[in-house]
Amino acid sequence: MSVESLKALFRAELGEISAYRVPPTAPEVKLDANESPWSLPGEAWESILSAVRGTALHRYPDGRATRLRETLARKVGGAPDEYVLGSGSDEVIALLATAMSKPRPGKERPAVLFPEPTFVMYGITSRAHGWRTIGVPLDDRWDLDVDAMVGAFEREQPNVAYYASPNNPTGNCFSSERLERLILEFPDTLHVFDEAYGGFARESFAERYAKYPQCAVLGTLSKVGLAAIRVGWVRLDEALAHELEKVRQPFNLNALSQEIATLALTDLAPILRTHIGAVVTERERLIKELARHSSLCCFPSDANFVLVRYDGNITKFCDALASRQIAVRSFSEGGTRLEECIRITVGTPEENRRLIVALDEILCP
Ligand SMILES: Cc1ncc(COP(=O)(O)O)c(C=O)c1O
Repeated sequence: MSVESLKALFRAELGEISAYRVPPTAPEVKLDANESPWSLPGEAWESILSAVRGTALHRYPDGRATRLRETLARKVGGAPDEYVLGSGSDEVIALLATAMSKPRPGKERPAVLFPEPTFVMYGITSRAHGWRTIGVPLDDRWDLDVDAMVGAFEREQPNVAYYASPNNPTGNCFSSERLERLILEFPDTLHVFDEAYGGFARESFAERYAKYPQCAVLGTLSKVGLAAIRVGWVRLDEALAHELEKVRQPFNLNALSQEIATLALTDLAPILRTHIGAVVTERERLIKELARHSSLCCFPSDANFVLVRYDGNITKFCDALASRQIAVRSFSEGGTRLEECIRITVGTPEENRRLIVALDEILCP
């Protein structure tokens, strides 16, 4: 069999999507991936090392991640059996795409709905699983266009809808009345609130609606300082969690990640909270600094990054930053509403200072 005939066996949808790419080398100032800029201090490492010392590396991990799920229930809310855990929330999105994919009567394929622009993996993962993806443009304040959303719900009857709030890459939270209208008017869809950036926001909308069976909440440790351990989760109605568990690989969360994540929610929580507070303070400072430049328009942010529109050649602008060892996320490709925008992750005070100096050099030579 030739490679071509083997390639023909791949799902047709894969022809339409590209693999998610990460730059191979990290620059000195890495402000492109919405990670925490803070590494863990020495005392946190001491706790981690004593927690993982003696882990039975020759055995499979606890497939149910019992202690971690109990800790999540205690610290985040709900009951342990309401949680399904993944190697990052990315994996949880894939689990939902695998499990909830039965087409509605009269439809050939299941549909997923999300406002646009938003986190790209909702679309990529769903398409790779054969779903129809319905993107509804956000309004001109990056809030939900609720009438357009209602129309799309009625027409497409999605199995799942995603709302990242705060939204990536726009940074804002969606209005709670608009979200509430959609949840209550369309109870036959699973409404997934992605709170990846919830720690940086003023309020959690998802918490208020966790009691509705049509609502699920996605969470992750990736944005608050532990991206490397890959731990994410979804909290949803127990009966739905029970079904979702059936498509989870039995040992998807390794033993070391389970230990560290449990620690992150308990002993390390005060350190992580301090880091979150520092990011919020720096975010506000950064926004003020960016506002000094008339060619930059900075959108309000409730997250650990800010979206900035640049009135000029965005590719040259990003190249100028890159030549100073500063990486930001550019949206120059794709011909979307974000074409002139960059997303800047909030760094440490020193990283932000380097960015601010660089912007002065590039924009006010
Ligand atoms: C809104 C949103 N959800 C989920 C994720 C993925 O998080 P994880 O690292 O837990 O897979 C990201 C990552 O950028 C994100 O922006």
